[in-house]
Amino acid sequence: MRLVNAKEMMQAASRGHYAVGHFNLNNMESIRAYLLAAQEMKAPVILGVSGGTAKYMGGYKTITDTVEGFMEFLDITVPVALHVDHGTYDQALAALEGGFSSIMFDGSSYPIAENIEKTKYLVELCRQKGISLEAEVGAIGGEEDGKISEGECADPAECKRIADLGVDMLAAGIGNIHGKYPANWGGLHFDVLQKIREVTGLMPLVLHGGSGIPEDQVKKAITMGVCKVNVNTECQIAFSDALAAYYKAGKDQESKGFVTRTIMAPALEAAKAKCEEKIRLFGSDNKA
Ligand code: 13P
Repeated sequence: MRLVNAKEMMQAASRGHYAVGHFNLNNMESIRAYLLAAQEMKAPVILGVSGGTAKYMGGYKTITDTVEGFMEFLDITVPVALHVDHGTYDQALAALEGGFSSIMFDGSSYPIAENIEKTKYLVELCRQKGISLEAEVGAIGGEEDGKISEGECADPAECKRIADLGVDMLAAGIGNIHGKYPANWGGLHFDVLQKIREVTGLMPLVLHGGSGIPEDQVKKAITMGVCKVNVNTECQIAFSDALAAYYKAGKDQESKGFVTRTIMAPALEAAKAKCEEKIRLFGSDNKA
C-alpha cells in the first residue's frame, strides 16, 4: 500500500466521531514502531515530520522512500499519511517535492493577511497534486529555550477565514501546548473550541500538544470536532525511559548487550505500546 493523503481519514473521523493519531517521527525506530502499532490496531495513522526531523533523517525524499520501503517490507495495509508538522512555507514546498502526502503549513506567526495569502497558494498547489493541507491559527505554546509560553487561543473569526480557503484540517490553539504541561495549566478552553466549531462547520479540527492532556478532556474535544490529535512527547518519554531502564539493569554489560539493535528493541516496543494506547483513546482502532 502506498502513502495516502489525510483527506478521507479526516472525513471518516468526522463522520465516525473519533480522531486519527498523528505521531511524530524522530528516528528509524519510530517509523517501525508506529507502522506496526497502526497495523496491529487496524487504525489509519498520520506520521508527522518536523523540520528538525527532516534534517536529521536525510531530508523529505529520504524519509518518503524509507517510510514507503518499511510499509512494503512490513506488509502494512492500513492507510498511512506522511505529513509535514509545523512546516514553514519553504519546508511545505520542499516536502511536496519530496513525495509527502500531506502538509501542515504553520503560518500562525505571520500577520493574518499573509497567513491567508500563503495558505491560499498552498491550497491550490495541494489540490492539484492530491495532497492534504492543514493550516494553523493561534500559536500553540510550549517550551522553547527553557521558557514556557502559554498556549494562545485562536480567534474564531480568523479560523473561519482560513477554513473558508479550502484547507482539509485546521489546527486552532485552545490553550494546548507542546511538551510537558506545567502543574498550574488551566486545561483546554472548550468555550473557544465550541465557538470555532460553530463558525467553521464540519471542518476537521486538530489538537496539537496531545501529550499529557487528561483523557477526559481529549475525549470531550473529539466529541466537539477534533479529528486529529498530535502526540510526540509521551512517545519519546516512553522510548527514553525504556533505554534508561536497559542501562540501569546492566543489560549492556551482558554478552552482546552492546549491540545497538538490541539496545533499541525495548525502547521501540515502549514507543509502540504508547502509540497503541493513544490510538485506543482516540477511538481510531478498527477504523482502517
Ligand atoms: P506533544 O509533544 O506535546 O505531544 O505535541 C506534539 C505535537 O503537537 C506535534 O505537532
